[in-house]
Amino acid sequence: MNNKILIGFLLFATIFLVAASAGNFNQDFDITWGDGRAKILGNGQLLTLSLDKTSGSGFRSKNEYLFGKIDMQLKLVAGNSAGTVTAYYLSSLGSTHDEIDFEFLGNLSGDPYILHTNVFTQGKGNREQQFYLWFDPTKDFHTYSILWNPQSIIFSVDGTPIREFKNLESKGVSFPKNQAMRIYSSLWNADDWATRGGLVKTDWTKAPFTASYRNFNAQACTWTSSGSSCSSNNSPSWFGQSLDSTGQERIHWVQKKYMIYNYCTDTKRFSQGLPLECKFA
Ligand SMILES: *[C@@H]1O[C@H](CO)[C@@H](O)[C@H](O)[C@H]1NC(C)=O
Repeated sequence: MNNKILIGFLLFATIFLVAASAGNFNQDFDITWGDGRAKILGNGQLLTLSLDKTSGSGFRSKNEYLFGKIDMQLKLVAGNSAGTVTAYYLSSLGSTHDEIDFEFLGNLSGDPYILHTNVFTQGKGNREQQFYLWFDPTKDFHTYSILWNPQSIIFSVDGTPIREFKNLESKGVSFPKNQAMRIYSSLWNADDWATRGGLVKTDWTKAPFTASYRNFNAQACTWTSSGSSCSSNNSPSWFGQSLDSTGQERIHWVQKKYMIYNYCTDTKRFSQGLPLECKFA
């Protein structure tokens, strides 16, 4: 190799390494509350939130995103986590906010967590779907992903899609696509409703409760006042993605075996008629 080629190669290799390295919590997130209960550890590779009787804790992304594929690995509060809620979501905040939610509702040791999901458009939610998981989410880290592009929002767990919210604007259903969102997460006490509808209270003798985060990865479009810039410029692969037939089969499998609540079948709650999007599911 002559020197020019070598230098060119090294430059390329360096750029590639930077682009391929996993997210760093110091770089990508700010701890927003909890007075020392949230910690970034191991040079930015690990983040932990904790909750005790005085307070919970939380963080948010430095960036605002407008579309993306966002992965995070979480390990939830172990043991008796009844009454605790770990929320992990995208939100634009405000009275007409858009929001895409994962919430993990704790339980007594050995009883199943509930994975609660919701989608808000223009400040309106009421689109809950809830699931049990096919593994113990407190034993290991698992990957929770949100794919958000102009066609659809897909929630996935370890690469398995569990929910899709399609863009049905042509049918008159609003879809989040004009407001940039940040990533938020928090761990707090919600023993007035979280576990068996509030029947099981938080056992404070087990505090502090801790949830852990690692391997954040966003292939996304970052929003700033000067416009939007996407992590891989020319039509990134996630941008036009929607569920293929394998994805559809997986989602049906999960929904059949693990879904415990679906707003689209709750005719009692929506006695005046189910939300419009339910007719096209
Ligand atoms: C907790 O366990 C009970 C009993 O198995 C179950 O009914 C409930 O759905 C579980 N999860 C939550 C968050 O309440």
